[in-house]
Amino acid sequence: MIPWKQLGRAALPDGELVLLQRGDEFVLRMRGVELMTSRSHRSEELLATLTCVDAPPKAHVLICGLGMGFTARAALDTLGPEAKLTIAELVPEVVAWNRGPLAHLAKRPLDDPRVTVRIEDAAAVIQGQRAMFDVIVLDVDNGPEAFTAPSNAALYSVRGLERAYVALRSGGRLGVWSVEDSPSFTGKLHRAGFTVEKHRVPSRPNTRVQHVVWIASRSASR
Ligand SMILES: C[S@@+](CC[C@H](N)C(=O)[O-])C[C@H]1O[C@@H](n2cnc3c(N)ncnc32)[C@H](O)[C@@H]1O
Repeated sequence: MIPWKQLGRAALPDGELVLLQRGDEFVLRMRGVELMTSRSHRSEELLATLTCVDAPPKAHVLICGLGMGFTARAALDTLGPEAKLTIAELVPEVVAWNRGPLAHLAKRPLDDPRVTVRIEDAAAVIQGQRAMFDVIVLDVDNGPEAFTAPSNAALYSVRGLERAYVALRSGGRLGVWSVEDSPSFTGKLHRAGFTVEKHRVPSRPNTRVQHVVWIASRSASR
């Protein structure tokens, strides 16, 4: 078996994020827990497609968490030429890896002129914004109940979801990815004011493994 090779390491306040390669597979591991593998990205793509599908031509989309760029690529492929995509990524090394060894995986989304990268906590990018985004796509962790970074819990709390609601324009959508279902999270989205659809999506083609995507809409009249 081919051994894993460490390509990069980012020091985080309470741990580390490492980038590993084995053959043509890449993995991001946060504090020892797998955060993302290049072998499985269909659900990350569907997250963007389902959330951006009806976005207006000049939509402003916020992607929270760059990872390996699959969600960003799917959003770019779904949106029109006049859309704007802001990517909030906490770890500068992840952005550098997406311009380096990971760039080919999602066909270099960071080179698209519609993209602006903010190296910042997604919570800080959302906080205080009013009617700024048509779409917010949230995939900074393994889901609303599976945190590799405990500080990310705030983004998935009712308070965090209320902030996302206010940051969306009327009729806007929030898409959230999770490794597994969370009935209590559906309730939190409702409490924050959203109408909610939940989708079970394949993790990759020809598999029975499913992930969960919530599409939460802000009503067009509020
Ligand atoms: C699971 S990966 C995202 C995978 C991505 N959807 C894709 O298609 O490759 C999570 C990403 O979110 C970043 N991240 C974690 N916490 C964050 C935060 N609070 N704000 C912004 N980015 C964050 C991680 O560094 C990582 O790049």
